Amino acid sequence: MAYLNDNYLKLKAGYLFPEIGRRVSAFCKANPDAAQRLIRCGIGDVTEPLPPAVVAALHQAVEEMAVRETFKGYGPEQGYEWLRSAIAQHDFRSRGIEVADDEIFVSDGSKCDCGSILDVLGSKNKIAISDPVYPVYVDTNVMAGHTGEANPAGAYAKLVYLPCRPANGFIPEPPKKHVDVIYLCSPNNPTGAVATREQLTAWVNYALANQAIILFDAAYEAYITDPTIPRSIYEIPGARECAIEFRSFSKNGGFTGVRCAFTVVPKTLLAQTKAGERKPLHPLWSRRMTTKFNGVSYLVQRAAAALYTPEGQTQVKGLIEHYLGNAKILRSGARQAGLKVFGGVNAPYIWVRTPKGTTSWQAFDQILNQANVVITPGSGFGSKGEGYFRISAFNSRANAVEVARRLQELKW
Ligand code: MLT
Repeated sequence: MAYLNDNYLKLKAGYLFPEIGRRVSAFCKANPDAAQRLIRCGIGDVTEPLPPAVVAALHQAVEEMAVRETFKGYGPEQGYEWLRSAIAQHDFRSRGIEVADDEIFVSDGSKCDCGSILDVLGSKNKIAISDPVYPVYVDTNVMAGHTGEANPAGAYAKLVYLPCRPANGFIPEPPKKHVDVIYLCSPNNPTGAVATREQLTAWVNYALANQAIILFDAAYEAYITDPTIPRSIYEIPGARECAIEFRSFSKNGGFTGVRCAFTVVPKTLLAQTKAGERKPLHPLWSRRMTTKFNGVSYLVQRAAAALYTPEGQTQVKGLIEHYLGNAKILRSGARQAGLKVFGGVNAPYIWVRTPKGTTSWQAFDQILNQANVVITPGSGFGSKGEGYFRISAFNSRANAVEVARRLQELKW
């Protein structure tokens, strides 16, 4: 009989969001009336329609595909040159950050890239992750066999967990011991915290001293309102020698259903072979993309490029302002309900302390039953997320206002 990948059997329960979906479906089935007034603030999925510049670009691209002369088959696996160049120019070089066009790799999502990056990293790395954390970083390492079994609290052997608490502003400090790979996410999912220049500098210095690699997830970069907060790890001197950055069009251009993202792999980033030789990762990632991926569709890349036009930029700004406006309303609603609130200023996520020793899943059930609102239990992001829940600001304005109101009616 063929063998399966035993590592998958180490995974705890289902992936968080399908698990929430399952519980919500069961609730709706049992309570059809409450289901009518259900508001979802669980998964961070955008609700507002695509920017008009994107819609126009999609229409035009479809027309091109309908005509022999402009029809496109396979494109370059790493992305069309015009998109890589628009990204490198607008997101980096225009802000004084050195990134070459061919260091940009266009993909169908940051979640996929965060998992796939493990293909080009060795199996002996000591991996550090924040706690709480976006579950994809953990689960993909479990699947790749980089961990032992999980303990009853859900922590996997061999991973180094970096606790994030109010005391450190939910941004982890570099550990005293050596690690080889560090996942950082700023603005943070789930806590909505942002890493300051000093905090990122400490991490870059740690990575350089330890010859470690930082996997920097900047999917929510567009939500940074504080001008002192770095938008890219490459704003920190030395980061080109130690960091890979993941970016996405999901949460700025509303592309969760369109699918487009990119990863920056600097040519100056090295890692070592088993024999101890130092080699660049860039050609390995390029090889991985050309072998396992056939590129994002022409239509979608045209749509992404439209986000960089002047109209596209204005429309993205409008979307971000909309969701950040929701975050403000939700923050203040939760505060007025007497809850302790974090995040939601430079991020679309609000991180809330559960009151009176309620567990995260108890809070989930209580908010679902009493307010008919879906939130995400903090413990689903790691053991240090226990005692918290996350509210997503991705919603219509009317729903955000209504959720803020219902939070105040909760009886804990
Ligand atoms: C979340 O809710 O944490 C995100 O939507 C997940 C994702 O972007 O994959």
